[in-house]
Amino acid sequence: DNHPFSVDQGHLMIGGLNTIDLAKKYGTPLYVYDVSLIRKNCRAFVNTFERLDIKAQVAYASKAFSSIAMLQVVKQENLSLDVVSEGELYTALQADFPVERIHLHGNNKSMNEVNMAIEHDIGCIVIDNFHDIALVDTLLKKHDKQMDVLMRVTPGIESKTHQYIMTGNEDSKFGFNLRNGQAYKAFQLLHNHPFIRLKGLHCHIGSQIFETDRFLMAADHLFAEIAKWRELYGYIPEVLNLGGGFGIRYTEEDNPIQLSRYAEALAEAVKQHAAKLSIPLPEIWIEPGRSIAGNAGITLYTVGAMKQIPGVRQYLSVDGGLTDNLRPALYQAKYDGVIANKADFPPTQTVSIAGKCCESGDMLIWDLPVPDVDDGDILAVFSTGAYGYSMANHYNRFPNPAVIFAEDGIDKLVVARETYQDVVKHDLSYE
Ligand code: LLP
Repeated sequence: DNHPFSVDQGHLMIGGLNTIDLAKKYGTPLYVYDVSLIRKNCRAFVNTFERLDIKAQVAYASKAFSSIAMLQVVKQENLSLDVVSEGELYTALQADFPVERIHLHGNNKSMNEVNMAIEHDIGCIVIDNFHDIALVDTLLKKHDKQMDVLMRVTPGIESKTHQYIMTGNEDSKFGFNLRNGQAYKAFQLLHNHPFIRLKGLHCHIGSQIFETDRFLMAADHLFAEIAKWRELYGYIPEVLNLGGGFGIRYTEEDNPIQLSRYAEALAEAVKQHAAKLSIPLPEIWIEPGRSIAGNAGITLYTVGAMKQIPGVRQYLSVDGGLTDNLRPALYQAKYDGVIANKADFPPTQTVSIAGKCCESGDMLIWDLPVPDVDDGDILAVFSTGAYGYSMANHYNRFPNPAVIFAEDGIDKLVVARETYQDVVKHDLSYE
């Protein structure tokens, strides 16, 4: 009930397709995306800003799930794109993503990354630190080009989320701190720079955040700083990028608001601040990753070994684990799942879903109510579309699973399953 998928004759459906047929056709573990849901999530943000008549860029944070097909869908939906590495930028170029809508992030950008961004004339570089300023300055000079940049600041806000995905707090590796004058120093270097155009400010306070008040607090901090810069230098920002981090539902414990509400709240806050300062309304940019891809993806696994410890626990092992979904092991993230070929059967027991990696911490779900389970049943885990495939790894030399896009009853393989040849591809002999 907590997830946006239907059930047909006991089988879980996605994108108009039967998950059991997909598992048979492509094997498991298998990532499957409902493409119409990706589009719906994109439109929730884009349409809201349009409805409010606010100039905006909704940049998909491609770290959540980047592949050529995914970026093509995002391009079709007219979003912009946030990349944080040469690999993500390369993927965007392969997907023929409009370069003027690509933004480059990163707290330790390499010379190659910045060079690539400048060579391809991407839309904007988000300057994260003094090292970035020097690098961008040097390389722009070399290329004899100008570039739009945003300055990333750290407002000093603790967002209510896992410590590993907090980014707006004072003690963060990201951005120029507002509180200790770092941001002001950086501003002085960038303002009126001959070929770096400071379009505005950026801040991202963290990820999987449900309360709009944290985003509003961030806006307060940004505008307090802007007020200072305006007074001293007459600076007026053209863009305000408030980052991503909009929370989604993993389990019934999560109660996210609608995506459009996040956009509305930000728009309202920026409007009020701009009015108070009597400056023109800046463009609002956001960078949702999880909220675009997360709930649109599921992972299918085949159930194998079951181990009963009487009075303690029933373990049910599947053919994937922390190699395709690192989040439970890394953040104690919780997920919901269902036996996809018995999707409307009433539960008869509670089991814990174990991965097959050689690691006790490789548990995907603790205490999941399920019906009677047989060897070979298919388990579907929900909301794995963000930071699942993108954080997949090769522990125990598992090949990475395939990715399927499902839309209007048509399935398409968009990332092929790795083979064992792929696994040893870069190994060289020592004989
Ligand atoms: N913008 C910036 C500057 C970011 O650092 C991030 C995420 C985003 C946007 C997108 O945030 P989202 O809308 O997806 O929450 N691997 C972690 C999440 C790390 C997020 C890192 N930055 C996880 O699996 O929860």
